[in-house]
Amino acid sequence: MEKKIYYFENPGKQNTDKLIELAKERAGELGIKNIVVASVSGETTLKVAEQIKDVNLVSVTHHAGFREKGKLELDPQKQEELTKLCIPVYTSSHALSGVGRGISNKFGGVTPVEVMAETLRMISQGVKVCVEISIMAADAGLIPTGEEVIAIGGTALGADTAVVLTPAHMNSVFDLRIHEIVAMPRP
Ligand SMILES: Cc1cc2nc3c(=O)[nH]c(=O)nc-3n(C[C@H](O)[C@H](O)[C@H](O)COP(=O)(O)O)c2cc1C
Repeated sequence: MEKKIYYFENPGKQNTDKLIELAKERAGELGIKNIVVASVSGETTLKVAEQIKDVNLVSVTHHAGFREKGKLELDPQKQEELTKLCIPVYTSSHALSGVGRGISNKFGGVTPVEVMAETLRMISQGVKVCVEISIMAADAGLIPTGEEVIAIGGTALGADTAVVLTPAHMNSVFDLRIHEIVAMPRP
């Protein structure tokens, strides 16, 4: 089987539109019905919603307190637009840092889950994000674990990576399977 991977020259938000075009094409080819998007402000998910119809779209944000104690980073206006479109916006502890980050912040060192995250970042920030948000959305019951989905992530802002994967819950995380990389920045 021959498949294409689209490589962006540089990571970042400028790749978002092309990334969405590629994800749409691959979702159509594979008949994928669920797409999970990392979107801190809601902006990237709204762009995906404009371009990709007839799928179950799920938006995952940073947890409250990621940047500032008690504060959510989701843009309230974008949240309203997402609500109007019936797109669930999910906020929870990050699957690939979680309490582990609290432990390493306090005591130093590193926890196994942070090693997992850094290992996935050897491929790209976005691949780490795709795996993480898939676990989070699966644990929220918002995407299935028994079928292939597309996950979309980026490097800090926007989207530059799309992956076809079968999600898993955090208590069986190594059942997660990455099937295809649709696009990513070339390291
Ligand atoms: C749960 C979560 C974890 C994230 N982790 C990282 C990360 O480790 N590295 C990174 O560069 N971006 C990370 N991001 C940012 C996303 O990949 C993406 O670029 C961003 O959410 C897009 O937000 P926007 O729609 O506001 O532009 C993360 C986002 C979320 C929601």
